[in-house]
Amino acid sequence: MTGSTNSTSGPGRRPPGPRLTRADLDALPNYVPGRSPADLARELGLPEAIKLASNEVPYGPLPGVVEAVAEAVAGAHRYPDMGVLALRDALAERYGVDADRIATGCGSVALAEHLVRATCLPGDEVVYSWRSFEAYPIIVATSGATSVRVPNDAGHGHDLAAMAAAVTDRTRLILVCNPNNPTGTSLRRAELDRFLDAVPDDVLVVLDEAYREFVTDAEVPDGLTAYGDRPNVVVLRTLSKAWGLAGLRIGFLVGHPEVAATVRKVVTPFSTSLAAQAGALAALRQADEVRRRCALVVAERDRVTEALRKRLPAGQVGGTVPESQANFVWLPLGDRSVTFGRACETRGIIVRPFAGEGVRVTIGTPAENDAFLAVADSALTT
Ligand SMILES: Cc1ncc(COP(=O)(O)O)c(C=O)c1O
Repeated sequence: MTGSTNSTSGPGRRPPGPRLTRADLDALPNYVPGRSPADLARELGLPEAIKLASNEVPYGPLPGVVEAVAEAVAGAHRYPDMGVLALRDALAERYGVDADRIATGCGSVALAEHLVRATCLPGDEVVYSWRSFEAYPIIVATSGATSVRVPNDAGHGHDLAAMAAAVTDRTRLILVCNPNNPTGTSLRRAELDRFLDAVPDDVLVVLDEAYREFVTDAEVPDGLTAYGDRPNVVVLRTLSKAWGLAGLRIGFLVGHPEVAATVRKVVTPFSTSLAAQAGALAALRQADEVRRRCALVVAERDRVTEALRKRLPAGQVGGTVPESQANFVWLPLGDRSVTFGRACETRGIIVRPFAGEGVRVTIGTPAENDAFLAVADSALTT
């Protein structure tokens, strides 16, 4: 290179390397993925460890998925269909919406990011409840927008009145996580109706329904059917959880055709991979099996909640385990969260502690949940 005046010596000189000018990113927390069970098992000298940290469903890929993906990747030297036409059509048919209202992405987390990028200029505000999905602050900051976090209410759920009050002229987007990750709490129809009526119609409301398939409370609305007629509402869904495709990275959104078209424009080209498209098409043919698996998860969720509530009485600091409509439960252990997480890990069970707040525990198989409850017994009483 010629003409460079950079020098690496002398006072005030910066070290060699690219100039990373985004000082605002220094303050960002890293996304914390669940720990590898294989690593933990090796460390502890156990045949295997149990992972209850990432809200996956424990029953393996759905029937037909592995074969469909294997067949598709025989053509891996070709780009996938960038329009994702067959999959969008299948989703449209399954959910009773027009395909032009759908956009797919590399997981619904990518779609959340695309939506923020599509709506926010630097300084624009994104409102969300906190604590909620840990990717939200990362997405907002990397997009150059400003996070407006509204504290969860005493029951660990969204405070919708405070969220509506937090809307300003700079607000472009609101993230509503229903059910909420990591607390499992959910919002009911009447309160969501009120909230949506209160939000200006030029502000996009993103209903993140990653855990919709586990909802059993009839009062918790399905955003697609309840709010499909509201142009400023977008519903995010994922195939990572109930549909068992976390490793393939595939999610979708349903919104106003203009919103969906804009997202399809800003999406990273070809980011819905060949394998993801084939796997999702095969998974969508297994709706009955998904329902069966979700029912197993729900039965276990209710059993684990009841067992934990006996160990964690309502009167203690932080309260008891809130009712979960997702495939995980929340232990509001406050300052004890990290110690509890460590105690589980030393016994070969990986859960997800959030320092100073609580611990999220994914519902596994009955045997995995029993193993967790046995550890919780001693960890909660010491
Ligand atoms: C609330 C919520 N939204 C979105 C996602 C992202 O899912 P994915 O990117 O795997 O589709 C998750 C994953 O944990 C989540 O909890």
